[in-house]
Amino acid sequence: MAGQVRPITLVGTPVLHAPCRHVEDFDAALAELVDDMFASMYEADGVGLAANQISVDLRVFVFDCPDADGTRHRGAVVNPVLELPALEDRRLDDGDEGCLSVPGPHARLARPDHAAVQGFDVGGKPVRVEGTGLLARCLQHETDHLEGRLYIDRLSARARKKVLKEYEAARAEAEESLASGGQ
Ligand code: NI
Repeated sequence: MAGQVRPITLVGTPVLHAPCRHVEDFDAALAELVDDMFASMYEADGVGLAANQISVDLRVFVFDCPDADGTRHRGAVVNPVLELPALEDRRLDDGDEGCLSVPGPHARLARPDHAAVQGFDVGGKPVRVEGTGLLARCLQHETDHLEGRLYIDRLSARARKKVLKEYEAARAEAEESLASGGQ
């Protein structure tokens, strides 16, 4: 059950910017992938992780994330399909968002405050996950990943540029500290 921590892919890596493939086989390799995804997500202190964030182009994501009431939800969804409220029922949550594949910065991004995904669990059984608050944001963020879309792709050109600049600065600083033998 204990998965292996795998490196997180960063913005610019091709696997993050193309749609992932449908999962056909609910086999041991899929179960192992999901275990590795949980291990990698926890290691990185994330609330969600898509398979292409550990270089696997399959439509799978995992999450361990609180909803608007603070209730924690944990699971894996294979071949997820996102459901959003009808336009007239939609309320937007203008909260902050970030991504393990763009480490460092966050940006304000309005998204519907309620979302659901339908898909399958790791054994191939149909599942539906519905969420509010951070969980609603997470479900949308992770299904976006599987389409090859990052949250920064939903920002204005100006906001996107700012996030990428902060990300590059954080990376340069990390590399410099590594080169000088720091932490
Ligand atoms: Ni992300």
